[in-house]
Amino acid sequence: MHCVRKVTDDLYWVGANDRRLALFENIHPIPRGVSYNSYLLLDEKTVLFDTVDWSVCRQFLENIKFVLNGRQLDYLVVNHLEPDHAAAMEEVMLRYPDVKIISNEKAFMFMRQFGYDIEGRIEEVKEGDVRSFGKHKVTFIAAPMVHWPEAMVTFDTTNGVLFSADAFGSFGALDGKLFNDEVNFDRDWIDDARRYYTNIVGKYGPHVQALLKKASGADIKIICPLHGPVWRNNLGYFLDKYDKWSRYEPEEKGVMVVYASMYGNTESAANAVAAKLVEKGITNVSMYDVSKTHVSYLISETFRLSHVVLACVTYNLGIYPPMHNYLMDMKALNLQKRTFAIVENGSWACKSGTLMREFLEKQLKQTTVLDEKLTINSAMNEDNLPDMDALADSIIESMK
Ligand code: FEO
Repeated sequence: MHCVRKVTDDLYWVGANDRRLALFENIHPIPRGVSYNSYLLLDEKTVLFDTVDWSVCRQFLENIKFVLNGRQLDYLVVNHLEPDHAAAMEEVMLRYPDVKIISNEKAFMFMRQFGYDIEGRIEEVKEGDVRSFGKHKVTFIAAPMVHWPEAMVTFDTTNGVLFSADAFGSFGALDGKLFNDEVNFDRDWIDDARRYYTNIVGKYGPHVQALLKKASGADIKIICPLHGPVWRNNLGYFLDKYDKWSRYEPEEKGVMVVYASMYGNTESAANAVAAKLVEKGITNVSMYDVSKTHVSYLISETFRLSHVVLACVTYNLGIYPPMHNYLMDMKALNLQKRTFAIVENGSWACKSGTLMREFLEKQLKQTTVLDEKLTINSAMNEDNLPDMDALADSIIESMK
């Protein structure tokens, strides 16, 4: 059965949802699933904007057929070639053999690399080019590294619709509700949107800034991303989030306490630090067991909050491996502009604090590591309380 939604009078969402996939990109857990959005414009010409992942191809083809209602498909605009959006284009070309593919030079290079049979049906465009499909005129804006180098966005100057590719997307399947004003985004979606952005596009903040700057001149009325809800009002809310995330500015002053504990003693110290912070008036505190929390959630929270307490046991004279993995992911995703406090534990050769400090100071940009630290030998005791107090005071001072 087809399942489509009308976006405007002549534009339809023809995408589909995947609630079976456990790991997006085979890395990131998506317990709420994911949507692969595609849009079909019925003008004098018919135009499909991007396709979908192979897993939902059958539903997608049924949707296209229903909306076309006997018409042929004239154009396919490919804004982003990653297979979660482009895998189904091969099947579209088979079903609609006269379709012309509109995209850019790099995307065509990737299509050939992936083995797609595109020869004789491509129309190459560059930034600023204009195409008319009848009533609708569109222009193309290059969006390199948001999130692959070939990425572009397409702006319909007739109705103000921006086909934004991966930008402004989110994890989470659509439960019938397509538009941002049909959901409580700030309550039910923002965490998945942040986790999607920070883990998928987080590394490319300067490129996102460049795109935001280029798009700021356009009179955007509707944003149609390739994942998650379509935005048709309150665009400033999401643009502001993107601006903060891509400048690596925290959304909130607050502390996340991330602990790596083998037998509970480092966890106990982390609990004591969190309680001390709250007692001293900092209530925006959240705690995470690094061994139990997928790193994509940790990264997302680290983008949200201003301060991070890293509490880590020493393991084989090094940083406990899951904590090390978290640090490496921060580096890979270009995280910066955060303040860190260190709690270290070791029964005979306590090294984790020194190693974490060295990593943070050398590998992350514009990062502060507070001088005060808490060192525990095996288990925290009364003798550690002054250091813990000083650590908490130092965090609070740095939040002012
Ligand atoms: Fe949703 Fe970069 O693909």
